Amino acid sequence: MKRTIYCGLLRTEHIGQKVTLCGWVHSRRDHGGVIFIDLRDREGVAQIVFQPEKKDIFAQAERLRSEYVLCVTGNVRHRPEGTVNPNLPTGQVEVVIDELEVENISASLPFEISDYRETSEELRLKHRFLELRRPVIQKNFIMRHKILQEVHRYFSDQGFIELETPFLTKSTPEGARDFLVPSRINPGSFYALPQSPQLFKQLLMISGFDKYFQIVKCFRDEDLRADRQPEFTQIDLEMSFVDEDDVIGCIEGLLVNIFKEALGKEVKAPFKRISYKDAMLRFGSDKPDTRFGMEIVDLTQDLKSCGFKVFAQVVEKGGVVRSICVPKAGEKFSRSEIDELIKFVTIFGAKGLAWMKVTDSGPESNIVKFFSKEELDTIQKKLGSKTGDLLLFLADSPKIAAEGLGALRLKLGKKLKLIPEERFDFVWVVDFPLLEWDQDEKRWAAMHHPFTSPNSDDIKFLDEKDNASKIRARAYDIVLNGVELGGGSIRIHKKDVQEKMFSLLNITENEAKEKFGFLLEALSFGAPPHGGIALGFDRLCAILLGEDSIREVITFPKTQKAVCLLSGAPSPVSEKQLKELNIRHFVLKKDK
Ligand code: AMO
Ligand code: AMP
Repeated sequence: MKRTIYCGLLRTEHIGQKVTLCGWVHSRRDHGGVIFIDLRDREGVAQIVFQPEKKDIFAQAERLRSEYVLCVTGNVRHRPEGTVNPNLPTGQVEVVIDELEVENISASLPFEISDYRETSEELRLKHRFLELRRPVIQKNFIMRHKILQEVHRYFSDQGFIELETPFLTKSTPEGARDFLVPSRINPGSFYALPQSPQLFKQLLMISGFDKYFQIVKCFRDEDLRADRQPEFTQIDLEMSFVDEDDVIGCIEGLLVNIFKEALGKEVKAPFKRISYKDAMLRFGSDKPDTRFGMEIVDLTQDLKSCGFKVFAQVVEKGGVVRSICVPKAGEKFSRSEIDELIKFVTIFGAKGLAWMKVTDSGPESNIVKFFSKEELDTIQKKLGSKTGDLLLFLADSPKIAAEGLGALRLKLGKKLKLIPEERFDFVWVVDFPLLEWDQDEKRWAAMHHPFTSPNSDDIKFLDEKDNASKIRARAYDIVLNGVELGGGSIRIHKKDVQEKMFSLLNITENEAKEKFGFLLEALSFGAPPHGGIALGFDRLCAILLGEDSIREVITFPKTQKAVCLLSGAPSPVSEKQLKELNIRHFVLKKDK
């Protein structure tokens, strides 16, 4: 190796040593006949100095430009008085160069490596290899690497076996669309890229591996957001002869370990648990951000016969009245700001949003006159409101009330800076319903996936469609700072129960056989009870690194339109390739 030390690791202890550095020209300054270059490598930058006395090298140094690739040798010395940079880890020292090799030159850059925030994301992703040179971005990936090593070590120490599962496979239902791969050897047939290794990891339990884990790519053709990519990484695991607490305990151990070893931070286990019902009621979401208060309060019973017709009528029709208390917003918010909030909740289907400002003489607003003194007292007591607060009310179906107020709570929490950014708040969401009603398709759908076990007390309801909504699932989600980090469940391990589940989901016997026949068959050969979970690894890294988007922790991410701007994928292929695949295609015109 030419390099004797990384630029970023130079310290005062190296003073007097001869070193060879290899890296990129980060910046160049000419100062009264002396040339200073910040040379950059993976570990950071170091200042190197070219003095005019060394004529040949100095002349070469004058021609160096940003991002040229150098190997230099010289002596480390303390920086002269007044030139020390206390903000830089290498800021005490510099290297006086007496050998210079220019390994490569660089074309002029589309953007400065040091100020990418000014540059459009499009340009940055097109030249992602340049953006990845940025020290702050490289730091993300070095941390991602560290966390990966911790995950491997933890599971291996806990007796898990790392096993790989196929990418060219049959579709596994995780609720998204599949990416399909045509088979050349079997014309007209397609593989599906796995949405997760769900079925294979269950088969590995049936094979007797007992504890499996894998850090694995998953593929889902869904609409993208800041926390979704078409290909992403899961920390996936499955265990035999376990119950919910075993899987939960195992993940808590993993996360405590990652925080300690990779970040040097303490988090306390066991984490809080909240039922799905309470999460929806108190936070209006199945991924509650528990870092701040402003919880939703239900006032349905208290206001069912109030004089405000809008509320009373909603309750009469089986709806709910719920409210949040926005601290100190009563004075802060103008009428037009309140009107904006009203408009905001309509996105979730709400028909309106009522409000009251709490003053020294009690609540004030256009609707206060419709409520009795007792009702106003109850409202204030239940919400714990103080003078200066703003009360917001939504009357609607439980779903719309929860979603509207849940989103409003998050929006106002951010706006009023109520969310402590530096906090890491884990919570398990448990006691999910097994099924949810799909209004579009008019049938029951699995809330997690169709392999999730019902609570043993509720298995009897599998035969009764009318009672389907009552069935509880043995499922659990882990949420960190309001982001769904992972989800899992104890699985169905009895063939007859699995068949009943398919039938409840309106999957016919033939369909079940065609799609999941291999699972049903495997379940008939002594399947052990088993369960597991998968964590979104990109999401975990993004939260730990304080990034808003998982794109910042993925080396070559895709845009919202699922395009890789760097390589240009997806792109048309040649007629020859299509012919080999026995595919003829034409693009259907989309309706405007
Ligand atoms: P689930 O579908 O909940 O469960 O996925 C587990 C976790 O994967 C992450 N995730 C994503 N991350 C980035 N981009 C995406 N498009 C994306 N989709 C999901 C989320 C999510 O919580 N087989 C089950 C697990 C099990 O039951 O064991 C599964 O895949 O953080
Ligand atoms: P209206 O009687 O329609 O003029 O409404 C009076 C106030 O009640 C307005 O501030 C509306 O935004 C609000 N409002 C209307 N419908 C609802 C509802 N379903 N929940 C909460 N507030 C509502």
